[in-house]
Amino acid sequence: MRALIVDHAQPSGLRLGTAAQPAPRPDEVLVKVAAFALNAGDLATARGLKDGSVAGWEAAGHVVEEASDGSGPAVGTAVTTFGHGGGWAEYRTVNTAMLGAAPKDADLGAISTVPVSANSALRALRRSGPALGRRIMITGATGGVGRYAIQLAHLAGARPIAVTRSPERFGAELRDLGAQVVVADPADYQDTVHTVIDTVGGPLLVRAFDRLNTCGVLIALGHLATEEESFPPGALMATPDRNNRAVVSFHQFDGTALPPDFTWLSEQLAGGVLQPSIAWRKSWQHVEEAITALRDGTLHGKAVAELD
Ligand SMILES: NC(=O)c1ccc[n+]([C@@H]2O[C@H](COP(=O)([O-])OP(=O)(O)OC[C@H]3O[C@@H](n4cnc5c(N)ncnc54)[C@H](OP(=O)(O)O)[C@@H]3O)[C@@H](O)[C@H]2O)c1
Repeated sequence: MRALIVDHAQPSGLRLGTAAQPAPRPDEVLVKVAAFALNAGDLATARGLKDGSVAGWEAAGHVVEEASDGSGPAVGTAVTTFGHGGGWAEYRTVNTAMLGAAPKDADLGAISTVPVSANSALRALRRSGPALGRRIMITGATGGVGRYAIQLAHLAGARPIAVTRSPERFGAELRDLGAQVVVADPADYQDTVHTVIDTVGGPLLVRAFDRLNTCGVLIALGHLATEEESFPPGALMATPDRNNRAVVSFHQFDGTALPPDFTWLSEQLAGGVLQPSIAWRKSWQHVEEAITALRDGTLHGKAVAELD
């Protein structure tokens, strides 16, 4: 089968080539991939793999072979899938606990962004508690996770505060997604918030923590900053109005079932309730463009490659 294989001799570390088609285990389906989304984490993983390996976490397509243990969807079902590799290829095998069925008319490019970005935003919001009426600050708001977090927070009845280094450039887009306020830095927001979903880390996390009110929760979701977090003396001390605040370490695979959430998120995308915020979408033959943009930090949204 054709696949985007690791090739350390290439500037991007990847090239279109061929790989052996995988054979599903009893609890796996075989999926014909139509589109996959890229993440910085995928690229980091690919850098550590041997030449000829197939990386890729999230991909969408159709089931072409059912799980022999009867646990997964039927042949022909549109699915969004996660695996710790193997997604950047014409066919991938997927454990039936790592996929969600999608409406048959779903845009497969859009739902390929569900397993990592949308799912992370959903689980981070859940971890922070009820959202209704609360102010929720989202850093790295123009990114794949950030854009979903804004939309889901808005949908849940929260008041999202978006933090982007470029509020002039992205403010209108982020407000369209549901942000109530867009600021360049957490310190620019004068009020307090109940939740921070932080995808940036470093000094920005420290300044965002300073915005939390009593019982506020900061979800440390990502670390794009090159600097470490350093809390000034007294920053973690409680005061009557800022008591009992928490920093929560976070990983999207929190042990709760994925298929119902992958399916629900895919339905929201298919129904137009959520937008995938795809910033780059082309044939996988041009994937080097997206890889360069991801590595340079010039991509603000999801990159989706389509197989042809
Ligand atoms: N814990 C988990 O389970 C989990 C799951 C998914 C992702 N992640 C992690 O979460 C992070 C975000 O993922 P993503 O897919 O949303 O990333 P992304 O699409 O690359 O976007 C991140 C956004 O953060 C901002 N940013 C980038 N570098 C920055 C820096 N050095 N300082 C301040 N802002 C910066 C940019 O927005 P502006 O330029 O507009 O500010 C960018 O659009 C990554 O570290 C990823 O590995 C973790």
